[in-house]
Amino acid sequence: MEDINFVWKQVRVELDKDSYDILIGPGVLTHVSTDLKDIFPASSYFIISDSNVSDILGEDLLNILKSDGLNAHLLSFPAGEASKNMDTVVSLARNMVRKGADRKSMVLALGGGVTGDIAAFLASIYMRGIKCIQLPTSLLAQVDSSVGGKTGVDIPEGKNLLGTFFQPKRVYCDIGTLTSLPRDEFINGMAEVVKYGMIMSKELFNILEKNYLEILNLEPDLICKIVTESCSIKAKVVSQDEREGGLRRILNFGHTIGHSIEAASDYAISHGRAVSIGMVVVSKLALIKGMFSEREFKRLKTLLNNLGLPTCVPSDLDTRTLIELLYHDKKTIAGRINFVLCSEIGRCFVTDEVDVKEVEEAIDSCR
Ligand code: GLY
Repeated sequence: MEDINFVWKQVRVELDKDSYDILIGPGVLTHVSTDLKDIFPASSYFIISDSNVSDILGEDLLNILKSDGLNAHLLSFPAGEASKNMDTVVSLARNMVRKGADRKSMVLALGGGVTGDIAAFLASIYMRGIKCIQLPTSLLAQVDSSVGGKTGVDIPEGKNLLGTFFQPKRVYCDIGTLTSLPRDEFINGMAEVVKYGMIMSKELFNILEKNYLEILNLEPDLICKIVTESCSIKAKVVSQDEREGGLRRILNFGHTIGHSIEAASDYAISHGRAVSIGMVVVSKLALIKGMFSEREFKRLKTLLNNLGLPTCVPSDLDTRTLIELLYHDKKTIAGRINFVLCSEIGRCFVTDEVDVKEVEEAIDSCR
């Protein structure tokens, strides 16, 4: 691709005819309008964002698109996980129909993980599927949810229970948007970055260990580096296993227990924080099974603490409840739980050879 500013990074997700690029760097959003005209022509563009993002970033992007002569619209919905449901999808779809969206229209998902999931889900079913571009503005969305094509909404019975696999045409990770992200949200996303280090990149883990203060201070070169490294790992995994038949399961490191912690806390504990605790618990589990070293377990805990992430199972979440919730996870197959364990930092494997007693012991010893 021509005309990419030298500080921007580019990561390719290889999926045959569905392959796409992730552009990463400060200011990549300024390139979107030109790219839409040159590479992604559409009859109209629908920027979808939540009420927090639409007023500033949404309006700005809308104005740029319009001044470039594009037929653009901005649709927004109330911010928060509570909006991640079919009602929001139907309401957005009806708005699109009223504004003339057709099969050649395109969805631009501008925002965090909730926005990306809803907007891409809508794009995947609107008139049987229209094109979508992801414009993630939170760290969590940039390093995880905007890449890989998982879309979905929640129903009262569980999170993400309705969804599709639907790859975007491109992802623009503008790290400049992270400067206005609440610090809590940034730290939330860092749990996923640590995850990539644990499952696949000792180098990334070392960078985080050595530079956590600069990272928390949003030092642009480092942020660009860790977002690029995270996206590269995710791209590599998704390219080999788009539909989570095998390898993609490693991206669930810390998530199996993390989901139970989130649910048991009634979602008072954020995803990233729950994953942080989940990574500690499964690493303890691997330690109990003699598969992971005490030294590396301590390194993981220290890094998470340094990043402001929790490493203990809260005392008000009892072990029995967490174990019961584990069996309700949609990834539990025929009562067997697949755990992603690390044998060392940067190396992981999937196993269902885990005794419930070992899980209980791991949870109890992470109090
Ligand atoms: N967030 C895990 C995945 O995309 O597979």
